[in-house]
Amino acid sequence: MSQSYNRGLIEDFGRWREFSAGMWAWIFHKFTGWVLVGYLFTHIAVLSTALSGAAPYTETIQALESLLVVRILEVGLLAVAVFHILNGLRLLLVDLGIGLEAQDKSFYASLVLTGAIVVASVPTFVAGVF
Ligand code: HEM
Repeated sequence: MSQSYNRGLIEDFGRWREFSAGMWAWIFHKFTGWVLVGYLFTHIAVLSTALSGAAPYTETIQALESLLVVRILEVGLLAVAVFHILNGLRLLLVDLGIGLEAQDKSFYASLVLTGAIVVASVPTFVAGVF
């Protein structure tokens, strides 16, 4: 016989102060996954219109890369991608039953590692824009 539990409304984001590490990991994973999908479509749209525009492709890319806002968005994209990959690998291990008792610690480790990689990448991303 199955048993049901009243866990309250999961999607009640007004309760965000009570969220556990696992809930934040779930939200961040969904958010980053869908940002990556959004980026993929934007990327294809920008590159395909850059090919058909009046300015040659390389000039369009160079014009985009000369903008500070584009460099900042690139750092944001790296943050989103690195977190999604690290947390995704963590989820795959959890699905295999590995590290079940340290799920919160491995989530914090994904966050710290993402932060370190993103901070280390900043000089490369902003090089030549100023
Ligand atoms: C090495 C790279 C990646 C890994 C290891 C990875 C891992 C995962 C895993 C394990 C899930 C399922 C999470 C769950 O159990 O609910 C997931 C969900 C998802 N991933 Fe990835 N992923 C990667 C790259 C990407 C990329 C490149 C994109 C987009 C272009 C993407 C988009 C998504 C989306 C949209 C979801 C569903 C989010 C939802 O629950 O609504 N992922 N990913």
